[in-house]
Amino acid sequence: GALFMDPKPPSPTPHVLIFPCPAQGHVNSMLKLTELLLTGGLHITFFISAKDHHRLTRYTTAHSHFNTNPGFRFHVIHGLYEGPMDTGEKLTIILDSLSKVTTPLLRNMLLDSPVACLIADGILGFTLDAAEGTGVPVFFFRTISACAFWAYFCIPDLITSGDLPFHGTDLDKQIVGVKGMEGFLRLRDLPSFCRSDVNDEMLQRIASITRRTQDSHALILNTFDELEGPILSEIRKYCPNIYTIGPLHAHLKSRSTSKSTSSNNLFEEDKTCIGWLDQQAPKSVLYVSFGSITTITREQLIEFWHGLVNSGKRFLWVIREDLLLDHGDDNKVPSELKDVTRERGYIVGWAPQEDVLAHPAVGGFLTHNGWNSTLESIVEGVPMVSWPFFADQQTNSRYVDVVWKLGLDMKDTCDRTIIVRMIKEVMDVKNEEFTKSTHRMAKLAKECVSKDGSSYSNLDRLIEDIKTMNV
Ligand code: UDX
Repeated sequence: GALFMDPKPPSPTPHVLIFPCPAQGHVNSMLKLTELLLTGGLHITFFISAKDHHRLTRYTTAHSHFNTNPGFRFHVIHGLYEGPMDTGEKLTIILDSLSKVTTPLLRNMLLDSPVACLIADGILGFTLDAAEGTGVPVFFFRTISACAFWAYFCIPDLITSGDLPFHGTDLDKQIVGVKGMEGFLRLRDLPSFCRSDVNDEMLQRIASITRRTQDSHALILNTFDELEGPILSEIRKYCPNIYTIGPLHAHLKSRSTSKSTSSNNLFEEDKTCIGWLDQQAPKSVLYVSFGSITTITREQLIEFWHGLVNSGKRFLWVIREDLLLDHGDDNKVPSELKDVTRERGYIVGWAPQEDVLAHPAVGGFLTHNGWNSTLESIVEGVPMVSWPFFADQQTNSRYVDVVWKLGLDMKDTCDRTIIVRMIKEVMDVKNEEFTKSTHRMAKLAKECVSKDGSSYSNLDRLIEDIKTMNV
């Protein structure tokens, strides 16, 4: 009889699938999102390419760190095309390969196992098709800033307003088609893909994928309200369900009970540079890094090198194994550059960047303004000199310069005299001014990920919302 019925089994822990685009800046930040969700008691399956899985195992503690958590597992994807992605065309090939290989797999998983939700990288639009009819809600996570997201979202408006197509002439033309950015956004500050023909495949794709955010259940952004409030209000008119939970790396530090958070890098870190930094005076070193994707010509390398040397500053420079497009003849590097570098420079193939930016010896950051690097710099209050390479970085660097006043933007030039001038302005001449605004923003960033802060509350809300999803 009813009296002897088994008690209702406890409801199972909600299981979440997380699916990033296979690239350093994406895997890195979505692993941080994963760790945050694990602290909230969710179970996670994390999609990762065979190549990235191999690199994580080899170079980091991430593998052992995550695998000791019973609520976590990697799902390794084999058979993906995994070439470089430093242009729109190459990125298109990678996205096509991902869609082809993973759509059937993803669909089966969504149909066969009880999944509370899928959190997909928002540039993987095909995940919405894979989830169609399965009843599983898809959250989009974007690794970029709200301002770059909004610029992508407005591409159709830019065509209506006549700002696009781009005819290759006046990059200083003021843009009117992005609401909330009138008055300071120039053609050169739009995401770099906007410089292509409007029929360009990558431009069309990124525009339509970004619009499809409206078909997702919600949007998760690695940013914070105090940094991008006005643009977030614009986005909310189209995508009302937004969780701003960044800066993720700081959020993780603030939440984790153990001291050890995992290192998520897909490259091997050269930690010797910390010893070198230990010997330098406070705020005397310029840190130079262009992230994981940027490629430069030998001519640009030499121009940067002269700029660094002529600035008179000490510098720590990340020259990735695959940074240079053309290897050319190393003997052509003027010997005085090498001599000065031995004296007051330090070059590594890959740095432990978060620790470097947090080091008291670092007083400036010459950066490509990838969104992770930008947030890491903001949290540590380090002023920036921006040399955006591609995609969202063109928009980020404009915000860094004229909106947030956290640095100077040298986009579209690569000239030793400009490099010297900007390094000196940021680290000497106008350092006091910059320090005021970088410290203010760093404080806000730290507050928002502390208890009762905006990002802190939003993450709690996200976890609660996932827990109430019907499986
Ligand atoms: C790209 C895009 O440019 C970026 O805007 C987007 O948000 C994600 O994809 P990437 O170009 O690699 O990423 O730059 P960035 O977002 O700055 O990410 C690089 C990451 O690598 C940062 O977290 C940084 O700390 C880390 N890094 C970089 C190192 O740990 N060591 C290094 O030497 C260089």
